[in-house]
Amino acid sequence: MTERLRVENLYKVFSKSPEPALRMLAQGAKKAEVLVKTGIVVGLNDVSLSVPTGAIYMVMGLSGSGKSTLARCINRLNEPSAGRILLDGQDIVTAGEAELRDIRRTRISMVFQHFALLPNRTVAENTEFGLKLQGVSPRVRRQRAEEVLSIVGLARWGNHYPHELSGGMRQRVGLARALATDADVLIMDEAFSALDPLIRTEMQDELLRLQRSLKKTILFITHDFQEALKLGTRIAIMADGELVREGTPQSIVLEPGSDYVAAFTREVDRSRLFDARSAMNPVQPVPLAAGLSLAETGDGGGLVLDDAGLVVGALDADTLRALRTGGTSLGNLLRKDFVTVHECDSLLDVARAHRAGRPMAVVDGAGRLTGTLAADRILAGIASTPPQAAGGPHA
Ligand SMILES: Nc1ncnc2c1ncn2[C@@H]1O[C@H](COP(=O)(O)OP(=O)(O)OP(=O)(O)O)[C@@H](O)[C@H]1O
Ligand SMILES: [Mg+2]
Repeated sequence: MTERLRVENLYKVFSKSPEPALRMLAQGAKKAEVLVKTGIVVGLNDVSLSVPTGAIYMVMGLSGSGKSTLARCINRLNEPSAGRILLDGQDIVTAGEAELRDIRRTRISMVFQHFALLPNRTVAENTEFGLKLQGVSPRVRRQRAEEVLSIVGLARWGNHYPHELSGGMRQRVGLARALATDADVLIMDEAFSALDPLIRTEMQDELLRLQRSLKKTILFITHDFQEALKLGTRIAIMADGELVREGTPQSIVLEPGSDYVAAFTREVDRSRLFDARSAMNPVQPVPLAAGLSLAETGDGGGLVLDDAGLVVGALDADTLRALRTGGTSLGNLLRKDFVTVHECDSLLDVARAHRAGRPMAVVDGAGRLTGTLAADRILAGIASTPPQAAGGPHA
């Protein structure tokens, strides 16, 4: 995976003479101590992170933890005090005036929490605003505005004014404006936080849908852990200006690493976050008969596989015992009532598919058996104790 954006040892202290504060931070002092001893507010304290191309990278943390400061440093609305910010390898921190203007107009777009629409301009005029700054001709920019407005579901709203739109629609205009310049990187600072819950969910789904074709690199800032889990390819968690945990949503829930992070994960619905693969027992088939092998299901019975790894039937414990002591042949003994789930099915769907007394087969995209699941493992996967034997969630 290539890297679009990289932040290296970034510091931001809000002072005209930041040196004493930076020196203290370099020696390991924390935000609170610096404030007490120098009166200087620390915004960012040695933040490093790497945003892969095409990721929705979530920055999450409580109010005041430094999320907006980070976002604003990336397009230099805030001047970093120390450190590097590399966009496709080019350092933004040392970029000159003209270069910076170019970066803001064409490489990085920002979507804000409160839409920041111009009230006396139409939706289309708001959408094409960035293009106007770029000097794009009226005809071309209007065409582009109409294009992106229809992408965000606002075709035919171009001639209306912001006050005629609902909050959700206004946020779509904000998104359309950011898309209009065709920048590779979108920074969305609490972009959905002002929306009421239903509209917010709708916008989240919409963003995920759009991202499948847009494939932008998105830095999305939120104080809502559920939103981070839902949208995030990776999540960075901030506290007091520091990055305290970074990883995939699943890995953070499985191993929070600190009480601060664990507190966010407590409310998580694990049945939706984890999939069948994370809880299953991987198969270890043993030869059963010519061209057939057996994957035991842990209850004395097993699933019978052909040479290709496809499940042809199941054997319950009694039948298997009879078969092994001889006296009876495989023949028609195979049960066909086993339940099949896909590796990527959520544990919620797996739990719904489970039927007492019926073996459960976990298969890959080609239908080959990769694991088995019993009720206790499904429950263990959903409960807060992580299942130990299985491979864990795939990162
Ligand atoms: N312009 C500024 N001058 C002085 N201090 C600032 C300035 N902007 C931010 N700060 C301080 O930097 C710290 C981080 O603020 P920031 O706005 O980045 O937090 P946040 O995580 O975005 O919070 P929220 O969730 O409330 O938006 C806070 O302690 C804040 O007081
Ligand atoms: Mg903020």
